[in-house]
Amino acid sequence: MSTQDMIVVDEAVAGYTPDVDILRGMSVRARQDEIVTLLGPNGCGKSTLLKTIAGYLTPRSGRVLLEGQDVSSLPVHRKIQQTGLGFVPQTENVFTSLSIRENLQVGGHHLPERAVRERMEELCQHYPVLKRKFKDPAASMSGGERQILALARALMPRPRMLLLDEPSAGLSPKMLAEVFEAVQQIRDHEGVCILMVEQNAMEALRISDRAYVLSMGRVALTGRAADLMDDPQVRELYLGGRAA
Ligand SMILES: Nc1ncnc2c1ncn2[C@@H]1O[C@H](COP(=O)(O)OP(=O)(O)O)[C@@H](O)[C@H]1O
Ligand SMILES: [Mg+2]
Repeated sequence: MSTQDMIVVDEAVAGYTPDVDILRGMSVRARQDEIVTLLGPNGCGKSTLLKTIAGYLTPRSGRVLLEGQDVSSLPVHRKIQQTGLGFVPQTENVFTSLSIRENLQVGGHHLPERAVRERMEELCQHYPVLKRKFKDPAASMSGGERQILALARALMPRPRMLLLDEPSAGLSPKMLAEVFEAVQQIRDHEGVCILMVEQNAMEALRISDRAYVLSMGRVALTGRAADLMDDPQVRELYLGGRAA
């Protein structure tokens, strides 16, 4: 294993019930300073993979390593505190009845009060929309603004690894560009390793370093993002054969 490997999933088998495997020998890895995108049809196990890395599911066999440490059976509440992992789930990733400030406070709940204040200020400077609406309920935000808030909440404890489940789902092209810009900045300025599930394949590949195409709980195809954008199989799946 390279020392720069931040997230390693090695031959993981996992599922929600004892008799059904959703991940069927899944192996992916993401290094420091990388954006790695996971593509694949609905139901192929993308969210299940992220939930297994985050510790909501324990692999029946195989391993999950974070920064070289085997965390396969570390439960989710300990994983977020004891490792540098942040997770933005696919749905319900902000508390709509809480204010922007309160959402950020939740993200930093195990930090000292002063660190929370300083980090909130820093994130508000990065993302002005948070400052503008600081005391408003998150319910007053648009879809794109909520994704920014969900990202910022996950960034509160300064994670070294970030799992993002479809951050651009349901966004307009303009908001999609803004969210992807934010994702790129997180890699470039904070050095965070990002593993991201996306349906907007070509837009995601454009900001990614590498990608995996998943199928039925396994890796079907992997490579550098730039190469996959030119791959006839990927073009067929995501662009109906058109050039990117
Ligand atoms: N909480 C759950 N309980 C049981 N089965 C689930 C649960 N969540 C997802 N599944 C099943 O696991 C499979 C993979 O789902 P998921 O990982 O969410 O797919 P994707 O994110 O790739 O669309 C699907 O067949 C789905 O029905
Ligand atoms: Mg999903």
